[in-house]
Amino acid sequence: MKKRVSGIGALVLVLGLVVMTNGCSLFGDKFVAIGKKLFDYRCADCHGESGKGDGFNAKNLDFEPRDLTDSEERVLGDLTNEEIFNTLSRNIKDEDASVVPFMPTFKNTLAEAEIWAIIAYVRTLHPNNAPKIELTPEMKRKRPRFPRIRKVDIDPEIMKSKEHIENGQSLFEETYGCLTCHNIGGEGGRIGPKLDRAGFRSNADWLYRWIKNPQAIEPRTKMPNLGLTDEDAMDVVAYLKTLQAPRGPDLPAK
Ligand code: HEC
Ligand code: HEC
Repeated sequence: MKKRVSGIGALVLVLGLVVMTNGCSLFGDKFVAIGKKLFDYRCADCHGESGKGDGFNAKNLDFEPRDLTDSEERVLGDLTNEEIFNTLSRNIKDEDASVVPFMPTFKNTLAEAEIWAIIAYVRTLHPNNAPKIELTPEMKRKRPRFPRIRKVDIDPEIMKSKEHIENGQSLFEETYGCLTCHNIGGEGGRIGPKLDRAGFRSNADWLYRWIKNPQAIEPRTKMPNLGLTDEDAMDVVAYLKTLQAPRGPDLPAK
């Protein structure tokens, strides 16, 4: 069962309260509470509800999700608020983004203020001397929005090209870390559905629209918008279309 969260609704409510009462102390705790809700929905599958790195999906990953409580070594405690923000809100294709290769970015999915709320909550999980995070007027409160994709030109040559398909596979497995949430041939995460038969299930046009901007199709989906370029999205679609595993007894039913 999918859990739904209405973090933005809660945020709007709190903003209203703050404007009405101008009460900052009340507000501080609410900001953390919003962060916790968002964390439970967006992060806990991997990092665990306690933040210890023991979410249900952790055992499916080659990389251990960071223990955000610093129970064994001090890592988070040494990061600045801005460093954590930059991790959660990075461009996957930036060079220094590979510091955290197998963790999604939330830059294109969550509002800046929501990311700060998550960090305010994460700061309660480990000892640190970082400045307290409070909502400021500069933080953007709207989630990012992208122009609707009206027409998708699927090039049949790209769909057949070995080179593009292989590139799509490497983008899927490595660059964008799709495999940390999706399982193919028994490998990978379990947050999203298995994609062994994605090539049968969906047409190329739909796949392209979905991976470019899942929130445009299903606003509350847990799948983040990972910021795929047009070319990368096309190659990933070419790869996904090759996934046509037979329905067999060895494949657990979806
Ligand atoms: C699909 C699994 C997954 C999800 C979802 C996920 N993470 Fe991570 N996260 C990881 C992994 C794996 C690492 C370790 C990466 C590494 O060490 O290179 C990590 C590392 C981190 C780090 C340490 C970064 C550093 O500089 O060492 C922070 C902070 C973090 N995650 C916070 C979050 C927050 C907050 C969320 C939710 C908004 C989240 N993560 C969602 C898998 C995930
Ligand atoms: C944080 C986890 C996460 C990451 C990372 C992720 N996905 Fe997803 N994906 C999901 C979830 C959850 C769904 C189910 C959609 C829903 O109903 O909300 C999904 C759905 C899909 C579907 C539709 C499957 C179907 O049968 O309906 C495709 C295709 C897909 N993802 C491809 C990708 C690709 C390609 C990437 C990398 C660019 C990716 N996903 C990254 C979580 C993730």
